[in-house]
Amino acid sequence: MTEYNFDEIIPRLGTASVKWDEFEPDALPLWVADMDFKASPAILAALQRRLDHGIFGYELLPQSYFDAIANWFDRRHGWKGITREHVIPTTGVIPAYSACIKAMARVGDNVIVQTPVYNAFFPAIRNNGCRELCNTLVYKDNTYTIDWEDLEKKAADPKTTVMLVCNPHNPAGRVWTREELERIGRICLKHGVFVISDEIHCELTYPDHDYTPWATLPEELVRNSATCFSPTKSFNIAGIQIANIFAADPDVCRRIDRAINDNECCDVNVFGATALEAAYNESEQWLDALRAYLWENAKTVYAFLSEELPQVTALPLEGTYLMWLDCRAARHEGEPFEGFSERFADHLRHRAKLVLSTGTIYGADAEGFERLNIACPRATLLEGLRRLKEGFLNY
Ligand SMILES: Cc1ncc(COP(=O)(O)O)c(C=O)c1O
Repeated sequence: MTEYNFDEIIPRLGTASVKWDEFEPDALPLWVADMDFKASPAILAALQRRLDHGIFGYELLPQSYFDAIANWFDRRHGWKGITREHVIPTTGVIPAYSACIKAMARVGDNVIVQTPVYNAFFPAIRNNGCRELCNTLVYKDNTYTIDWEDLEKKAADPKTTVMLVCNPHNPAGRVWTREELERIGRICLKHGVFVISDEIHCELTYPDHDYTPWATLPEELVRNSATCFSPTKSFNIAGIQIANIFAADPDVCRRIDRAINDNECCDVNVFGATALEAAYNESEQWLDALRAYLWENAKTVYAFLSEELPQVTALPLEGTYLMWLDCRAARHEGEPFEGFSERFADHLRHRAKLVLSTGTIYGADAEGFERLNIACPRATLLEGLRRLKEGFLNY
């Protein structure tokens, strides 16, 4: 029993929540990546103190902000020596990797991504005048692995200058191993491809799967990279909008800083520093209790599917709270494969009243899959699973 009550159902309908208020009020939303849990007591108390001050003018980021980041990643993940000169704060991880692309790629260049992958990677690449080059992950034996030959070929294309890595991977649920990351890094270095590592999901890993910060790889690989990170996903403060970019190479730092300024996203939310410091300095116990709860939720999904809906497979969840469901068995005989994910997700939403994320928004190669967000009280999750079963049987 933990001192935090993740079972508590807190109504969010009508709170202008993207997750809850975007679709029909009777459709249970288990889609967009935020959690239906309150932030940690330490974060709530720190924000309350900041609120009580009553003045919300422009803020400087104090040294304690950078110390909180450095101490956390050193203590928790063995990433040593983060200093202020190498950290560029911004308003979110999307603005962070977008600025990194702008800084490190030219208009017309290729950016490698490993599909299926977080859908907001694509517009960031295109908005910077670049083109995504998909190193499609290989789905085999119920998991995803990297097609190394294809990666090498795509990295060797002279138009390829950047690779955007998702570590851990949303939506494949993979927590890349040190060996995998190092192999990506070596291929990219060999072909002059700069690596941007999106590590927003880094805190949410499960037994036997440890997050490897890109910045703990061999030095030459670290110098050829930038890391984008934030406490917002794991501490459920995404609406506060705060994130950071780390780059070891001073020249890379300068270029990214220039891009952040060009994009005018260098001033952060007045609550951002307060929330980040309370997360990293005072919420470790809460985070560990959360991870244990999420892991139980994942096990609840496996048990439900194996007993009640064996036609649907949930891939092994190594990290994130986003489960990737293989729903291909729902397809009718003769029904075209193309467009199935969208039709099935629409059916679930309108008939079974369950909103999942359509698999193909993460890449055309994800046809047949849907994404389930399990970061909610267990009773809510069970209701979602019940609706999934009903939707499957009525399709
Ligand atoms: C891999 C990944 N990067 C970035 C984001 C969004 O980051 P932010 O809200 O800080 O812009 C998400 C949100 O789900 C994500 O999954």
